[in-house]
Amino acid sequence: MANLSRLFVAADLTVDARHRLAHVLAEWAPQGLPGRVVPPHNWHLTIRFIGDADEVSRDRLIAGLDTSLAFGPVAIELSTLGSFPRSSRAEVLWVGVSRGAERLADLAAIVEEVVRRAGFSPEERPFSPHLTLSRIRPPEDLRPLLAHPPVERVSFDLTDLTLYRSHLGSGGARYEPIEVFPLR
Ligand code: 2AM
Repeated sequence: MANLSRLFVAADLTVDARHRLAHVLAEWAPQGLPGRVVPPHNWHLTIRFIGDADEVSRDRLIAGLDTSLAFGPVAIELSTLGSFPRSSRAEVLWVGVSRGAERLADLAAIVEEVVRRAGFSPEERPFSPHLTLSRIRPPEDLRPLLAHPPVERVSFDLTDLTLYRSHLGSGGARYEPIEVFPLR
């Protein structure tokens, strides 16, 4: 039986952006966010969720990402809050991207190509950059909360992507960085 790891490629916030977003959210919702909150050290923008990979495919993926990300840094501004699937029955509370979303989509298309060349199946769903803040079960009506979102925006320069291995557990997911790829 092959040794499988659950992989995804993500854009990380800088340490400073992480602190600023945590501060903005703490001021906005001093009582805390609804649902099961993702701890700030796990915050990221998923560029491509890959899922289970064996070691050979993983190594092909790493080799492909190593040589394909001649892209340059991306100036990102995190936008206001939103929810999936809809705010009246929210299951996921997220932060969107108001600046840099088009370049992120271009970057995601390059990563998609590398992922396919490494032998994985294509992603069928359109790319939708978001940073998951909390997961809400059962769903809640977040319309009152989202009617007054925070006004302060957090910006940062994205200079690399990270390949993560996700370890699922009862205490929440642990994300292990496997390799960092500079966007040079
Ligand atoms: P989410 O934040 O929208 O839940 C690690 O689990 C990352 O991969 C998370 O950001 C998660 O997105 C994403 N992810 C997990 N399972 C996924 C799937 N089946 N399809 C797409 N993205 C997934």
